[in-house]
Amino acid sequence: MGTENILREMDEGVLELSFDRSGKKNAIDRPMYGALVDALDEAASDPKVRVVLFLGRNGDFTSGNDIADFLNPATFTSDSPVMRFISAISEAQKPLVAGVEGLAVGIGVTMLLHCDLVYAGRGARFQMPFTGLGLVPEAGSTLLLPAIVGRQRAAELVLLGEAVDAEKARDYGFVNEVVADGEATSRARAAARALARKAPAAIRLSKKLLRHGEKTLLEETIARESAIFRERLSSPEAAEAFSAFAQKRKPDFSRFE
Ligand code: COA
Repeated sequence: MGTENILREMDEGVLELSFDRSGKKNAIDRPMYGALVDALDEAASDPKVRVVLFLGRNGDFTSGNDIADFLNPATFTSDSPVMRFISAISEAQKPLVAGVEGLAVGIGVTMLLHCDLVYAGRGARFQMPFTGLGLVPEAGSTLLLPAIVGRQRAAELVLLGEAVDAEKARDYGFVNEVVADGEATSRARAAARALARKAPAAIRLSKKLLRHGEKTLLEETIARESAIFRERLSSPEAAEAFSAFAQKRKPDFSRFE
């Protein structure tokens, strides 16, 4: 499934995949997930690709899943593009690197937990607004986030769902390094190219060893989250949140128990 909203560039062993949907803050729709899955599948089998680098255009990383797609009941079924994307990044054997400028929201944050190295511009903002949408976190983040940041901080990020800045993201441990605004791409690209010059099998095996302990738990977590996520998509709380988003107002959850 191709789309012009995912840019692909290959240089020095690094496959760059950039979110590029201006006007929608690079929100990811089904064709974009499809293009990402195709690119990740090809990267897995092409020996010329040593590293995959995720970037955003138009000043942002991505505002996450396209909210309009949440209204489609086929979203988040096990063979949907988004679920195939989540499997692809959670099972990737080659290193994943990300350079984040501007906004990273929803899956724009949870996908970073699958990346091996993450660089952010000082003005980057990270937000997991799932509960505010009547939803729950996905992509294995209920396992990976507390493991990376600790349980209280995970609760802060998930339950309060407020945006945090790049310095806080680095202090919490899901960003490696904060650089000046506009320099996250070049910093992440330099790291990706350094990885691409290393012995590829040694890199793949080391990545596998670093993640060995979480493999089965991660698969179970992704399956559990997505079952609940699918139910939540048709919940009255989510319906209120989606209409509030469309009407550009704050959701009112006061009638729910
Ligand atoms: N899905 C669909 N459309 C989105 C979107 C998303 N995830 N994020 C932004 N957009 C659209 C907005 O609807 C708006 O479209 P319009 O101009 O046709 O009305 C446009 O992108 C610009 O967004 P806007 O809200 O005006 O920009 P902002 O700078 O004020 O706020 C965000 C940016 C990202 C904070 C805000 O758009 C937002 O909260 N988006 C939803 C993020 C989200 O909940 N993602 C899903 C997580 S599970």
